[in-house]
Amino acid sequence: MAPSFTVFYGAIVTPETLTGYKSLPQCLLCVGSTGNIDWVVDDVEPNSVEEILKQKGCTNFELVKLLRGQCLIPGFIDTHTHAPQFPNIGSGQQYELLDWLEKVTFPTESKFSDVDYARRVYTNSVQTTISYGTTTCCYYGTIHLEGTKVLADIAHKAGQRAFIGKCNMNRNSPDNYREPTSAHSINATEALISYIRALPSHTSSAEPLVQPILTPRFAISCTSDLLNNLGDLAKKDPSLRIQTHISENHDEIKFTKDLFPDAPHYAGVYDGFGLLKHNTILAHGVHLEDAEIELISERKAGISHCPTSNFNLTSGVAPIGKYLDRGIKVGLGTDVSGGYSPSILNAVQAASVAAKVIASQSSEEAKAKTQFTGRKLPVATLFYLATLGGAEVCNLEKNVGSLEAGKAFDALLVDARPEAGNRALWNYDLVESLDDMLERFLFCGDDRNISRVYVQGSLIGGQEVVGGKPQH
Ligand code: GUN
Ligand code: FE
Repeated sequence: MAPSFTVFYGAIVTPETLTGYKSLPQCLLCVGSTGNIDWVVDDVEPNSVEEILKQKGCTNFELVKLLRGQCLIPGFIDTHTHAPQFPNIGSGQQYELLDWLEKVTFPTESKFSDVDYARRVYTNSVQTTISYGTTTCCYYGTIHLEGTKVLADIAHKAGQRAFIGKCNMNRNSPDNYREPTSAHSINATEALISYIRALPSHTSSAEPLVQPILTPRFAISCTSDLLNNLGDLAKKDPSLRIQTHISENHDEIKFTKDLFPDAPHYAGVYDGFGLLKHNTILAHGVHLEDAEIELISERKAGISHCPTSNFNLTSGVAPIGKYLDRGIKVGLGTDVSGGYSPSILNAVQAASVAAKVIASQSSEEAKAKTQFTGRKLPVATLFYLATLGGAEVCNLEKNVGSLEAGKAFDALLVDARPEAGNRALWNYDLVESLDDMLERFLFCGDDRNISRVYVQGSLIGGQEVVGGKPQH
């Protein structure tokens, strides 16, 4: 008989607040057949494991014992990436945003009218994000309905938790990569929503693993009529999440203001069409004005911080500390291929450097008055942004983002041992504590150190699955 429970025994590190996480060296964590975490017991000596399992009435189980140098953490949440841009990773970096879109990105995305090409690329994009430990991913597709359905199929089949959006774009892009009318764009969007919602539900997840998300690319790409219609869709179905770009680059901001002269600012454009809500994910937010920050905070929208992309496209440094002090939800985004890495670990590292750049330019006097503004981000905060912060931005914090009873088991088995093959982490024997291990993994780890990737209790990837390296 197949086991009804999977029980993990060993080290667990899980975020609690923006400034604190729990590191539990001897923990028992039980995942039920629904893929949810049934219970967690801390401080369990090896000789008490059996007794506790008996007390819990757990008889038919598989026991996974973590080794020294291994731990469980929640899966990473990538709040912003572009699945069709994976073929461009690492190229075109000499451009800034608007030239980069015109010369590099739109030509690549136009190829996704070819469904076979879309299938080939998207298979790789999804496998790649999973290998890097992304258990929930917010994907932009292209303008193409059929290609974006394929992206949804692939994420669904892979068992990843994902939001999939078809870009709405009916102006300011080449003829071969623009939707002819807003009616055409809205019809295709509605068709994608119906298609994704009809995918078979294959888990007992509180929400379906793969969900549609409205994706007006950015204000520049959409006429007022199109934004208005998208606002109507969002109003008709308030559960539909929305993702878009905001205030990434100075030329982009100026162009947006020229196109929408009556809006008070960039955020005001989205707000005017009912698209700035508690379930809106705003990518970048590098140069937001104070009035926009206030409005975003009031509307409870979230920011996807994409520091690798912001450095790579010379966009600037987003003042994330300021947003956190205003109580705005913040998660991390890889923004492939504005960002050159599909790894949330890389986003963590770039977020740390971005905050250090800001800290180096801010006075001790200014810093003394704030918790985050103008300061470096502590390891606990970086860990939070990569996990629970991302879950908040996706409005999924009740389901994922930390390893607690009642939540889905979306988790990574991290392996910092020499056997994982990452020389930067080889001297783990010198590591004193789980805290050291977490910090070193966040800063030096990569996909080789992600041994298993679980979503809703199912093993969907990691080195043990795709790398052919049994680690147990
Ligand atoms: N703004 C509009 N489209 C894009 C995109 O594809 N990438 C980034 N980084 N910014 C955008
Ligand atoms: Fe982007």
